[in-house]
Amino acid sequence: MISKTLEAENLTVLDHHYHELKDEGQDVIKGLSNSPKTLSPKYLYDDRGSLLFEEICDLPEYYPTRTEAGILKQYADEIAEITGCCELIELGSGSSTKTQFLLDAYQKISDYCKYLPIDVSGSILKTSVLQLQEKYPEFQVHGLLGTYEQALVHLETNYLQSRLLFFLGSSLGNFNPQECDQFLSKVARTLHPGDYFLLGIDLQKPKHILEAAYNDAQGVTAAFNLNMLSHLNWRFQGDFDLKLFKHQAIYNEVDNQIEMYLYSQGSHWVNIKDLNLTVFFEAGESILTEISRKFDLTNMKESLQNKGLNPVKTWTDEKGWFGLILCQA
Ligand code: AVI
Repeated sequence: MISKTLEAENLTVLDHHYHELKDEGQDVIKGLSNSPKTLSPKYLYDDRGSLLFEEICDLPEYYPTRTEAGILKQYADEIAEITGCCELIELGSGSSTKTQFLLDAYQKISDYCKYLPIDVSGSILKTSVLQLQEKYPEFQVHGLLGTYEQALVHLETNYLQSRLLFFLGSSLGNFNPQECDQFLSKVARTLHPGDYFLLGIDLQKPKHILEAAYNDAQGVTAAFNLNMLSHLNWRFQGDFDLKLFKHQAIYNEVDNQIEMYLYSQGSHWVNIKDLNLTVFFEAGESILTEISRKFDLTNMKESLQNKGLNPVKTWTDEKGWFGLILCQA
């Protein structure tokens, strides 16, 4: 993989492979031709989508961010003590807010640390790299701009020192079981024996708590979901009319997952020029835009173990709503 360094040598843009560019949008064609219709959750995150997600994290109903931050605040010193000084790498870092509990803890055990945040949103990544560099002058902070896929390929081939790779916020829940399995295999390949992996997962809980978290009263999650259509409009010259779609999230208790949908409010056609695609929507027809799986700690530890990522220690909050698992390769 070729990569080039941007701005003040503290941000690297991970380049697309040629076939990724060529195939851009093929998943949209496939998903909208499916019955029922689906769209990849990756389209939730253009710059506006990433900002809306940051807003979701502060909503009263959206407990995961605050609960995970509480666990990190309480146990970051213990995590740093177990792993010792190593290169800290975060997949899907966003604004790196919660990460600061970890950076504070590592600062106490070492004079020199390296932190590599990885995200797809250039604007959020640039801002957080600059802010963190200022707040932690003794840290070397270097952002990697790209997708998880690109990042994992980059990490596999650019090994420098022992690592703690972390994947927080239960982003693993947005993968289906097969994607999850492949992702964990790739994670395992980026780590050398003795390296660590810290995983944050949202745990199973009553339906009403989950549905409230994904159907918030202020409508921020609805705006986040609908923004996917704006993203497709600017990216592929589409003509989705956002007023003709309505957000709703439902908890599927069989598969233990939140399913986020956009429902068509009337029958109509949508044209996506750059993809040569015209799609008909029936009144009431749905598009599945995201799943958010809710896990069981024991099962997850078993899956990690099967990948050669051996659970060392697990932490949860008082209510048992969210879990952190530290594994060693
Ligand atoms: C990023 N991911 C873990 C969030 C979640 O909870 O699944 C995305 C999200 N979708 C709606 N609200 C938040």
